[in-house]
Amino acid sequence: MRLDKLLSHAGYGTRKQVKELIKNREVSVDNKVITKSNIHIDPERQLIEVNNQRVDYQKYIYIMLNKPPNYLSATVDRYDKTVLDLIPEKYKHYNLAPVGRLDKDTEGLLLLTNDGQLNHVLTSPNKKIFKTYFAKIKGIVEEKHIKKFEKGVILDDGYQTKEAFLDILKSDTISEIKLSISEGKFHQVKRMFQAIDMQVLYLKRTSMGNLSLDKNLSIGEIRLLNESEITYLQSLKK
Ligand code: URA
Repeated sequence: MRLDKLLSHAGYGTRKQVKELIKNREVSVDNKVITKSNIHIDPERQLIEVNNQRVDYQKYIYIMLNKPPNYLSATVDRYDKTVLDLIPEKYKHYNLAPVGRLDKDTEGLLLLTNDGQLNHVLTSPNKKIFKTYFAKIKGIVEEKHIKKFEKGVILDDGYQTKEAFLDILKSDTISEIKLSISEGKFHQVKRMFQAIDMQVLYLKRTSMGNLSLDKNLSIGEIRLLNESEITYLQSLKK
């Protein structure tokens, strides 16, 4: 990677500002002052310093978003706003992609990363990483529905869902539930309730495996994952 590009991505200013730093002999690579911006370096192997401070270059980045409604889980769209519109400019060069899709009207935990392997692991049904949703349901959700979801229900396209765990928080004309599923079929939660003649009125994802939506994150806000969250996600790759 070009030195000026790397420093710019690492937050040392625009390419022009970075070129100035280099010209002013403020940048060194492997303890040698560098005066050319266009040299190529390997940030994984080489020590890069600006004014004797080590440059913290991250290959992968993991961002937690509390997704608001009206945003698509996509990177670009001709008509709608996408979740990338909620990501600060300084992270945009990372080639981020959402991990799995939430519907336009679904809220809650959405991870964005440039770590393709992790993206695959978290979304692959074979890995059985349970995603938990909170939902408001039109109709009275009852004990009998717990068994039904556990056994699997038949969706409108004939697909039989895998074991899912339903927790009834409030059973009323508008019920409140938690549902954990290990798959991510299109509109899966909504279609599972459709299969038992009920309708999802509100849907929010609250966790993926042991990674939970940060309660301090307001809707539309992002934060970087912390060390222990990243360690947990890395452990899923093994
Ligand atoms: N299931 C749905 O129906 N919608 C989502 O956004 C996620 C899961």
